[in-house]
Amino acid sequence: MAKLIVSDLDVKDKKVLIRVDFNVPIKDGVIGDDNRIVAALPTIQYVIDHGGKAILLSHLGRIKTEEDKAKLSLRPVAERLSELLKKPVTFVPATRGKELEDAIANLKDGDVLVMENTRFEDLDGKKESKNDPELGKYWASLGDLFVNDAFGTAHRSHASNVGISSNMPQAAAGFLMEKEIKFLGDAVENPKHPFVAILGGAKVSDKIGVISNLINKADKIIVGGGMTYTFYAAKGLTVGKSLVETDKIDLAKQIMAEAGDKLVLPVDNVVATEFANDAPHKVVEGNIPDGYMALDIGPKAIADFKAVLADAKTVVWNGPMGVFEMPNYAKGTLEIGKALGDLTDATTIIGGGDSTAAAKQLGIAPKITHISTGGGASLEYLEGKELPGIAAITNK
Ligand code: 3PG
Repeated sequence: MAKLIVSDLDVKDKKVLIRVDFNVPIKDGVIGDDNRIVAALPTIQYVIDHGGKAILLSHLGRIKTEEDKAKLSLRPVAERLSELLKKPVTFVPATRGKELEDAIANLKDGDVLVMENTRFEDLDGKKESKNDPELGKYWASLGDLFVNDAFGTAHRSHASNVGISSNMPQAAAGFLMEKEIKFLGDAVENPKHPFVAILGGAKVSDKIGVISNLINKADKIIVGGGMTYTFYAAKGLTVGKSLVETDKIDLAKQIMAEAGDKLVLPVDNVVATEFANDAPHKVVEGNIPDGYMALDIGPKAIADFKAVLADAKTVVWNGPMGVFEMPNYAKGTLEIGKALGDLTDATTIIGGGDSTAAAKQLGIAPKITHISTGGGASLEYLEGKELPGIAAITNK
């Protein structure tokens, strides 16, 4: 369903509350990856270029104790935003109260303000994360309009997204939210065929929802990474010391029966004696020998997967093919990433932190049609779930 977009609003002279997802990796005040800040720029820029006052809300990490606050202030994020926008950004170290209200009252058209981490409110009865009705209403009272651009948080029903939306006459999507819905939505609802999903990562249990939702939509589902070996066990192959979720073996059998030849598993693997880069390792086909664990897909699997990808028109990739952080087990992930980057006539979509990191490591990120800023949110979207943050945005 089409959503109201920020560009449908008349933002001039208005106080525009914008929920962004600035939940970036941060250590000792240093931001590890500013991708999510960069991704929010078009909406912020649009609002200020059109004479609005941008008031930004975001969470950062999880606040459980008073001590967490010092590590998880949004101040460094506001400073980075100021550099990116090339203009001053007012940071208010509060989530409510006079200082915040005065700072908002003093904003001029085109100004930008970032308030403190919305989850600071979680120390008081989890007000943000439990969508406390008073908090959503209070935050909504600080602005004239509400724009939700936080796709990464869309699977949460929190005061700063759903709470504000429900206390405003209307809520619009920002441009990032619009883009995420378009690419992920088209892939799930209206893909160009052949549609290939590549699913990896450690656990089958994390991807069951995605597999079930895509089984009738995708032409092929390629499986790699740690979750593979639960399928191996389900096929009756030996798995050595590989990661296996024994309580999911029956489910893996069901999935295989339902998917038939849509499901493509690696025929060979790189196996090692220990979970260590320099452990003795070799390539084996089929059964994983005793004393060995599979840590990457093998060269035949890489060739098979590339052949499946060759004529794909839509590809969604979530999860690495092996332990790509260790150079000896990175090849599967890197080769599949490269194959994705080489597809010139396909819509390619990456979701999830690990596959995104692999795409960056490979330098293929610019060749990918869409890299989602959502981790949990993109997975839930691919599972076909309704995300509360999106549901709360006004339909057109
Ligand atoms: C994310 O990084 O996936 C989102 O920002 C949501 O964060 P959360 O898992 O702490 O709610």
